[in-house]
Amino acid sequence: MKQEELFSKRIQNFGVKVSSGETLRYVNLDNAATVPPFKKVEEDVETYLESYGSVHRGSGIKSKVSTDVYEDSRRVIKDFVNAKKDDYVLFTGNTTGAMNSAAHFFSFLSGKVAVSAIEHSSSWLPWIKAEGIKKLGEKQVSIDEVEDLAQEIQKLGKEQVVQYGVNDDFEFDLESIEQVFKENDIKVFVLTASSNAIGYCPDIKAIGKIVHKYGAFFVVDGCQFIQHHKTDMQEMGIDFLAASGHKFYAPYGGGFLIGPKDFFDRFISYEIGGGNLPYITKDGEFLRYKNQLAHDPGTPNAVGAVAMASAITKLEEIGIENVNKYETSLTKKVFDALSKNPKVELYVSKKHLNTVIPFNIKGELPQQIAQKLNDDFGIGVRAGSFCVYNVVRHLLKIEDDATIVEDVKSGKANAVPGFIRASFSLCNTDEDVDRFINVINLITNFKEEK
Ligand SMILES: Cc1ncc(COP(=O)(O)O)c(C=O)c1O
Repeated sequence: MKQEELFSKRIQNFGVKVSSGETLRYVNLDNAATVPPFKKVEEDVETYLESYGSVHRGSGIKSKVSTDVYEDSRRVIKDFVNAKKDDYVLFTGNTTGAMNSAAHFFSFLSGKVAVSAIEHSSSWLPWIKAEGIKKLGEKQVSIDEVEDLAQEIQKLGKEQVVQYGVNDDFEFDLESIEQVFKENDIKVFVLTASSNAIGYCPDIKAIGKIVHKYGAFFVVDGCQFIQHHKTDMQEMGIDFLAASGHKFYAPYGGGFLIGPKDFFDRFISYEIGGGNLPYITKDGEFLRYKNQLAHDPGTPNAVGAVAMASAITKLEEIGIENVNKYETSLTKKVFDALSKNPKVELYVSKKHLNTVIPFNIKGELPQQIAQKLNDDFGIGVRAGSFCVYNVVRHLLKIEDDATIVEDVKSGKANAVPGFIRASFSLCNTDEDVDRFINVINLITNFKEEK
């Protein structure tokens, strides 16, 4: 992969001053959190800004060009994931925003929500909140009592959201999933296409078949998936797909939720105000659009949308299979090296190896190691619990968390258990992974026997 074709020199050669006083080229191994923009994305955004004007509003040429390019980005996104012809692409700020809007719509329907136990909290908590608020009904309280509602919303929401877990091999059993449907009236089934903590990719297609057999909708969190793997919503049986631009080389504040037109057309939009309705009558009744505009409130983040389309076009040009081959070869090199080091505890098996490596150094706090990697060696990783507390407890074999809760409540530093995650993307090179391996071996005093 030619770095100079993919990323600007500024990004490739970003320097960090380390504790020795030296300035080193920064190595970003926190790519599952976010990735830098492609050079092409930066260029396309610059070009777009030249003709930038009010989207969906003005009659001037800038408005027209801006609107056309913005609208065309929906088509690019749809084609990339092979959404159905009349599916809507609703722009959101990120995956969190997409899941909050999906949860809002579904809260009007009867039935329960099923969410996996490995789900990022952004794909779990929105359902609890939306379902809880719905169950709360008409209850209204004074400002002095309003804080107590947070507990009540959580309690009511949790009763409506069923969690289904993984087995000891960290995989979903299809029989257990089927059982969830037999025991509950599930309206919507939520699943991540790739675990942000260990990279495990469930069999979306097989699970989708079960979801549809029971007449439920299938919502997939694709935000750790679509930039590494071919995504075909129709082939995989995905009804709704959520993702974030900043995870696929378009960090301009855009994300999306794709789903069926005949679903969205039935609802009042999640957010409403200007730009997403055709007329408000004398009596204050607002007429509704039956198109994507109805769900595009206010002045949209057109730059975010255009950046996403540009990044997708670049990914298609590279070929998603080539992206995957490149990234997994880097990941595998690190995995193989760390596997030999007895001081390293790995939390991913070779079978599930994808583009993330969760690990700890025995006897060391993950946050301190992550800090050291940055401060002394100019390597950025992430340490913590990655918004997947269930997964962390599972991997670290934590059964009782009463002490953790006490420590967190009393503000104790590093009280939340976790691990370090090194994650890889197109912005990494062989040199990056060699530097990382050498540093881990150095700080653990490990010398591989040749
Ligand atoms: C699997 C998964 N889902 C959802 C999210 C939330 O994405 P965002 O922060 O872009 O809303 C993340 C972010 O790390 C994630 O990894």
